[in-house]
Amino acid sequence: MNESRENKTILQMEGVSRFYRTRGNVFRGGGRLVVALSKINLSLRQGEIFGLVGESGSGKTTCGRLIVRLEEPDEGRITLGGEDITHLKGKRLREYRRQVQMVFQDPYQSLNPQVTIADSVAEPLITHKVGDPLDHLERVLRVLKTAGLSPPEDYVYRFPHQLSGGQRQRVAIARAIVLEPSLLVADEPTSMLDASYSAQIFEILQGVRDKLGATIMFITHSMASARYLCDRIGVIYRGHLVEQGPAEQVINAPKHPYTKALIDATPKFGRSELVPTYGTLLAAERPATSSAGCPFFRRCALAERLLCAGSYPPWRQVGPRQVALCHFAQEEVPPPPPAENAARGETGAP
Ligand SMILES: Nc1ncnc2c1ncn2[C@@H]1O[C@H](COP(=O)(O)OP(=O)(O)OP(=O)(O)O)[C@@H](O)[C@H]1O
Ligand SMILES: [Mg+2]
Repeated sequence: MNESRENKTILQMEGVSRFYRTRGNVFRGGGRLVVALSKINLSLRQGEIFGLVGESGSGKTTCGRLIVRLEEPDEGRITLGGEDITHLKGKRLREYRRQVQMVFQDPYQSLNPQVTIADSVAEPLITHKVGDPLDHLERVLRVLKTAGLSPPEDYVYRFPHQLSGGQRQRVAIARAIVLEPSLLVADEPTSMLDASYSAQIFEILQGVRDKLGATIMFITHSMASARYLCDRIGVIYRGHLVEQGPAEQVINAPKHPYTKALIDATPKFGRSELVPTYGTLLAAERPATSSAGCPFFRRCALAERLLCAGSYPPWRQVGPRQVALCHFAQEEVPPPPPAENAARGETGAP
């Protein structure tokens, strides 16, 4: 990624929370408050691919929906290029939606089954009155090609059910990039695809970043995908962001126990002794004594009852541009320089 672009913050979330109230039912009585996101602080830098990684139900899609303003946060504020977009309405919201697009987890969510691919992809151009309608077909063909559907003429007059899952996902990407957004939220675009289709989608997303200069938030439950594609990674656990940093550092030197557990649980190939360990993620949860403590307290192997159950952890700097939300996280101190005699090749062994 271009280093000068990298430092300019394009989107910022400050203390963003989102709660849902579920209805009561005959089994469990009254309604319940679900904390989908809790006090998220996050910034996306221009031209980067930021990976938001976490297990199912951790709040990833909610975060994406708030960014593209399909929903409003209950607390906190979101800014794009310095402008507060938290409660935008009317014309300004429509303009915002032109700049910020989302590829949905399930492509059927964004593709009308009764509409041809050409019409689906052209629809945002019509809604936002972009370009001359006579040129729309040409633009659609171009963007389908960018999204890896080649030759695009073979696809334009098909309906979504006449495509494979991977091809549908490419159409969803084409539709999301046809307006040339400055920010694209891609919500698990490869979760239903095999490895080779996934690799092609990664390449397309990289192309979107490189050709359009777009910033991408890539939502995934897979550390391996995030490592492959992303410049930076944020790890989310039950609505709380728990670690953030450059992708290589977070993967190679994770500092939050949840990030470590996610990485341990990623299947590895090549060395037979390296089998995945699911210990932390499968361990029975201990009861929480207070809601004020660390969000990971109930599953954490390191937790100290008095400290972690009772007080919310601080963000700790654990590496260059890497932070972790843990009372115990700390930067690894590099080993001391070798003694002078070791430098000369003398080991001191008898
Ligand atoms: N409209 C809603 N009403 C009530 N609860 C909701 C609603 N939408 C999401 N939730 C809850 O909010 C939490 C976060 O959901 P979200 O869809 O953001 O998770 P996710 O990380 O995207 O999960 P997945 O990986 O399975 O897609 C979950 O507990 C979910 O049940
Ligand atoms: Mg989701």
